Amino acid sequence: MSVKKIALLQGDGIGPEVMVEAVKAIKAIEKISDMKFECINAKFGASAYFECGASFPEETKAICDEADAIIKAPIGLNKEDSEKIPVEERPERGALLPLRRRYDTYANFRPIKLPKALADFSPLKPEIIGEGLDIMMIRELVGGLYFGKKDRGVNADGNRYVHEQLEYTENQIKRIMHVAFKESMGRTKVLTNIHKSNVLMSSVLWNEVLEEVAKDYPEVEVKHVIVDAAATALCLNPRQFDVMVMENMFGDILSDQGGGILGSLGLMPSACVGDEKSYYEPSHGSAPDIAGKGIANPYSTIGSVALMLEKSFDMKKEADILWSAMQKVFTDGFSTCDLTRPGMKNIGTSEFSDKVIENILAS
Ligand code: IPM
Ligand code: MG
Repeated sequence: MSVKKIALLQGDGIGPEVMVEAVKAIKAIEKISDMKFECINAKFGASAYFECGASFPEETKAICDEADAIIKAPIGLNKEDSEKIPVEERPERGALLPLRRRYDTYANFRPIKLPKALADFSPLKPEIIGEGLDIMMIRELVGGLYFGKKDRGVNADGNRYVHEQLEYTENQIKRIMHVAFKESMGRTKVLTNIHKSNVLMSSVLWNEVLEEVAKDYPEVEVKHVIVDAAATALCLNPRQFDVMVMENMFGDILSDQGGGILGSLGLMPSACVGDEKSYYEPSHGSAPDIAGKGIANPYSTIGSVALMLEKSFDMKKEADILWSAMQKVFTDGFSTCDLTRPGMKNIGTSEFSDKVIENILAS
């Protein structure tokens, strides 16, 4: 039997309550495998700042350094409470980006997955959803505008200005391209490259490196779509996409659109993968307005556990059992309130994961 250490970053808002459900799923997986998981809670986000003056405290860093994988709950507060925190310590800048930088988690996998049976969740028409959606968005996560140099000031003529640099090196582009081509090799072998090379020099280099890396994967067909056109295509004909690869900001925006076409960001788990360490997080926010009410949808956090099993621990079989167990809750006619439809029974956060666990144990 092997034991793996998992750091659980508690986050803000609904964070701690969806994390409890992730732990229940982890415990159920232990029962159907020969793996044991040692789960260690750690403070992270605005709540950490209010408790100990740092949104990514040293103690949390030490726990993450020791862990085999990290699960991160959503972070952030409403505008009014956020403003009580100094700008540099606010959870996005003070915790999340430093987490990504510390472990160089450059490859962000955001699956946009909707089986036909759940097509009704999507705001798109049934004829557009067809047999369902299965897109893998791959977002470069540690470069680009979000990590470039920033500077603001006032010009000699009194005009306020801001500089924000979009930086990428060839090696940063190369490594995310290899990830995308490899993912594509395991799927339909059609890779869509998202860019804006008609305007941005960064996209010109991006596309150049892509052509070089493509030579190692002659079986993969590459399609190029400009980012704004991709936004339209995701609404009009999302089924044309399989694996999509894009730089950091494009991925931030298009992956939220992906959540929109699924019907809820509540259906968006994600994996943030580095060469040494990876962390897993729901793509949605901390929803402070519903925190503590027991109604948050834990699907994205439990789905992030499934991604962890697959990517960090080579437990594809157990991951598939977990995915099916989660989807069966919906196909059995139950849903949390973000997705519920006439005819479906509305259930709360812990009831959802109790059903997931029943389904795992019955599998
Ligand atoms: C995401 C989020 C983050 C990002 C924020 C919270 C900094 O929107 O993971 O998509 O922009 O990367
Ligand atoms: Mg985002």
